[in-house]
Amino acid sequence: MADSFTLPGTDDSYWMETASATAYPALTSGLDVDVAVVGGGIAGLCTAWELTEAGLTVALVEADRIAAGVTGYTTAKLSVLHTLIYQKIRSSSGPEAARLYAESQQAAVERVAAVTARLAIDCDLERVPAFTYAESPGGLDRIRAEAEAAAEAGLAASFVTETGLPFPVAGAVRVEDQAQFHPRKYLLALAEDLTRRGGHIFERTRATGLGEGDPCTVTTEGGHTITALQVVVATHYPVFDRALLFARLEPRRELVVAAAIPADKDPGGVYLTPEQNTRSVRTAPYGDGRRLLIVTGEHFTPGSGDVTDHWQRLAEWTRQRFPGTEIAYRWATQDNTTTDQVPFIGRFHPGTDRVHVATGFGGWGMSTGVLTGQLLAACITGAEPPWAGLYDPRRLHPVREAASMLKLQAKVAGHFVGDRVRPSHADSVDDIEPGTGAVVRVRGRQCAAYRDDTGQIHAVSARCTHLGCIVHFNDAERAWECPCHGSRFGIDGAVLQGPANEPLEQRDIADG
Ligand code: FES
Repeated sequence: MADSFTLPGTDDSYWMETASATAYPALTSGLDVDVAVVGGGIAGLCTAWELTEAGLTVALVEADRIAAGVTGYTTAKLSVLHTLIYQKIRSSSGPEAARLYAESQQAAVERVAAVTARLAIDCDLERVPAFTYAESPGGLDRIRAEAEAAAEAGLAASFVTETGLPFPVAGAVRVEDQAQFHPRKYLLALAEDLTRRGGHIFERTRATGLGEGDPCTVTTEGGHTITALQVVVATHYPVFDRALLFARLEPRRELVVAAAIPADKDPGGVYLTPEQNTRSVRTAPYGDGRRLLIVTGEHFTPGSGDVTDHWQRLAEWTRQRFPGTEIAYRWATQDNTTTDQVPFIGRFHPGTDRVHVATGFGGWGMSTGVLTGQLLAACITGAEPPWAGLYDPRRLHPVREAASMLKLQAKVAGHFVGDRVRPSHADSVDDIEPGTGAVVRVRGRQCAAYRDDTGQIHAVSARCTHLGCIVHFNDAERAWECPCHGSRFGIDGAVLQGPANEPLEQRDIADG
């Protein structure tokens, strides 16, 4: 199917293209602050801003550029309606836990609205209803149950059969008072505000070491040290993972396409269906009487399958459901989901009161990233909110999580062992076509070899630098991906996505 398919649109995120680039300096000397924040995505930036707001001195370090990793490639819905989460939490942890989840997530949506108004941020914030819908009658029971569970959790939720979508649905949960925005415009304004008030942001500054003493230390690739009373690790997939949270996180990658539609065709809300390998719909202002339709879906485990096929299915669905659309942009995003589907936000492990983590947002990084800022700032300043326990990473419910954890570990073990003994993805480097890559065995070692469009081979070690699984080639994004925990690497071996923190080793194929 993928052979004749040309990827549609520009290969870039609309959020990246329509907000200015940043140029914060790298860290070039030691520094002493109250709190060091590692990671400059939405969770790290919101935490740093909330801590500055609380009067603490903060230094944030980001390995690349702020709001440009997962945060720059999101769908950017600010919604408390996380597919079918309220039934799940109610049945696994009880109605009070579901209520706390709803309350905390709605507080995050309201926080964005309040901060946007107070700082007069131009971030295209729009208040809209959110929907989880089913097209097939077979999915209706779950939708009705979610509407009931969400309402019981305290949300303005109802079951409806009419939506603004241009195709019929069997039924939907509708929740009022949700939102959508331009995440980079919002976050870059927060970054400006926090530096204006004395906070520090360092870009192109990779944290390579963490000392959990009193005080803590964060050391960087450049050999400099930040001394801090407290540290927050907000790197999407946590680095310095002494709690081994990676064993309870499942990575998944998801694709996004965006196309202009006439403003009068705007479905007027944020939508999601768990059917058809997930479809999510929202719009954004696009000028000249148009809106930008943003469709997300086709999730898959990084390092598995033919990604071009996934793009084709998503593009075809978009054109079929919204006739006449020309796809202008495409991008991809990556999420981690915890084994009980509630994010990990709080103290990193049982042995620390000084190191905090935020991860496992399960595709709902906007509200949960903002919530992270509120929750961690409150915990660090001694005012824990009532929902702190719900998100505590130190929780472990062996019975509830056992099945998911076993499934996850079996999958990892299958890759760790199986990918070593399986035949290579290509017999020899000569079999690799321009623009493609494959794992080949050269003199007994597995190499990840990519042939560029000019015919030149770029070879790196195929062993992921996290825990040694064998990487696979993503044909559509021209990147190496690890199927075990989702690390991603460029064709030159550079880390694009953790938990790996070290590049793939260079290999000279000629020398073996
Ligand atoms: Fe864990 Fe590759 S991401 S082994």
